[in-house]
Amino acid sequence: MKIIRQKKDLDNLINKINSISFVPTMGGLHKGHESLIKKAKKKDKHTIVSIFVNPKQFNSKRDFNTYPRNLKKDFKVLKKLNVKYVYLPNYTDIFSFKTNNVIYLHPFSKKLCGRHRPGHFKGVVNVVNRFLELIKPKYIFLGKKDFQQLFLIKKHIIKNHIRTSVISCNTVREKKLLPFSSRNYNLNAKNKALAFKVFKFLRKEKTLIKKNEVKKINLINIRKKILKFGIKKIDYLEAINLNNLRKAKKFNENFNFFCAFYIGAVRLIDNF
Ligand code: PAF
Repeated sequence: MKIIRQKKDLDNLINKINSISFVPTMGGLHKGHESLIKKAKKKDKHTIVSIFVNPKQFNSKRDFNTYPRNLKKDFKVLKKLNVKYVYLPNYTDIFSFKTNNVIYLHPFSKKLCGRHRPGHFKGVVNVVNRFLELIKPKYIFLGKKDFQQLFLIKKHIIKNHIRTSVISCNTVREKKLLPFSSRNYNLNAKNKALAFKVFKFLRKEKTLIKKNEVKKINLINIRKKILKFGIKKIDYLEAINLNNLRKAKKFNENFNFFCAFYIGAVRLIDNF
């Protein structure tokens, strides 16, 4: 496994290989990342995985500082998966060059997480765009758990005519439905059990809505119940129509629940 830290070494590599599958990460690797990497490796033989905790996409210093970092474990995972290239850039190499593309933020960036984490998506699209300009991958692999991020990156790529295809990958879940996320490393056993309980409940409620043919989707009682479980803060719980990204009103719309809530200081998001 080749670990690339300097931009000049990355440039040398990019000049040598021409068809790259790229998996951007912030480390804290888990089964979700593993599945992205496996897909990337199948698609192309030159897979580059980046690990860079991007300060520009965090709203608070505390969140940035407590984001799970475990490079030793990450390397173990990457070696096990036979990843050939790992890019560990420094801040200056990523942020000091002038970009060719202009950051495009689709209006959906103002909704859901965008409403609660001002500047977050600008930070995400900015860093991903910079990676795309540096690496020029044929494919980029992103997970559907971060649906909004995935959508906004796609829109940015289309708007700027970037020649990278986005491969959307399904969310990988633990046995009890909790989606794998780096932030789960910050949950203790008790909090994890609480997270399981919430996700299980939400699943059940969604199935009921679909089955019951209720005229109007009403999330107020579901919110109340979640708070009763012991969740202290819900940023949002919405049913979003996946065809038009508006709030779903009726059971027969093609909708997903989108939620973000806190367990202690850990913010979890999901959509299903
Ligand atoms: O999903 C993530 O881990 C990050 O938002 C990404 C895409 C690596 C950009 O920093």
